[in-house]
Amino acid sequence: MYVRSHKGWEIPEARVTPEAIALNRRTLLAGAGALTATNAIGLGAAQAAADPTLDLYPAKKNTTYEAGRPVTAMRFNLTYNNFYEFGAHKGIYKDAQRLITRPWEIQIAGEVEKPFTIGIDDLIRKIPLEERIYRHRCVEAWSMTVPWTGFPVRKFIDLAKPLSSAKYIRMETFFNPEVATGQRPSLFQSSLPWPYVEGMTMAEARNDLALFVTGAYGKPLPKQMGAPFRLHLPWKYGFKSIKSIVKIEFTRTRPKSFWEAILPREYGFWANVNPEVRHPRWSQATERVLGTNNRIPTELFNGYGPWVSDLYKDLKDERLWM
Ligand code: MTE
Repeated sequence: MYVRSHKGWEIPEARVTPEAIALNRRTLLAGAGALTATNAIGLGAAQAAADPTLDLYPAKKNTTYEAGRPVTAMRFNLTYNNFYEFGAHKGIYKDAQRLITRPWEIQIAGEVEKPFTIGIDDLIRKIPLEERIYRHRCVEAWSMTVPWTGFPVRKFIDLAKPLSSAKYIRMETFFNPEVATGQRPSLFQSSLPWPYVEGMTMAEARNDLALFVTGAYGKPLPKQMGAPFRLHLPWKYGFKSIKSIVKIEFTRTRPKSFWEAILPREYGFWANVNPEVRHPRWSQATERVLGTNNRIPTELFNGYGPWVSDLYKDLKDERLWM
């Protein structure tokens, strides 16, 4: 989004490569080791097998929100990721295996009746898991369709017991430059404001679509996809869907997110999907569907308008689309 100079999404439509070839190219770009999608699937399976919550998968399907598109094959999601903690390219999946996901604690803080810290395995067993298939639209104009497992954020809110003074939720990813080389100061990244931070309003968080994610494709989350606990807000650009969360804070004031702090003109707090509002450097009218050769029109709110547009009807003065 920021560090690379040649960006995949800037390739003209006519030059879009078939995904298999594109993946090979990315694999080469990822550096030494000649990694393959098959290796990634093997890694994913090994991680899942070692997970203490494995018995909860696959979870019961919730079909309230039809994706209306075929699910993206898992190998694409395993090998094409944005996780800047591990590097500014899409092929970070091998580096992300360094992330240690157990023990993993999440701190619940701020405007709550009683702040507390909870281990991820306790949390996952407190709220029933469900599977939902969501469209996932990155601000870089590519998309996937992903079967996530998790629970609605609103159920987590019941557990956290916020005070009425809580207006926003601020979430934070781990900070560990020893394993996450992208968090180390470098020539290009010395000023990045780690840890990764994202936020949403309480009203957004209480919308049934807002999902805390613990798994994907019927198994615990692979590390490169944000294990062990991430967010997914399907009506917003993907950068809002923060990975590997360690802190959830209820706040009175609007948190400043990671990308907003770096490039406020390009990445704002709201970041709702809108095909008619360009990113300052590229169009958002269409999206490249990973795993296919298709480029399709992007929909307002990524097609989730009927469930979320009411959240924004009184916010006419806000920059809702970036
Ligand atoms: N969360 C953290 N902590 N670090 C990141 O770099 N990238 C974001 C989001 N969450 C990111 C993150 C972006 S830009 C996108 S598009 C999605 O994660 C990508 O999720 P995926 O790799 O599972 O497709």
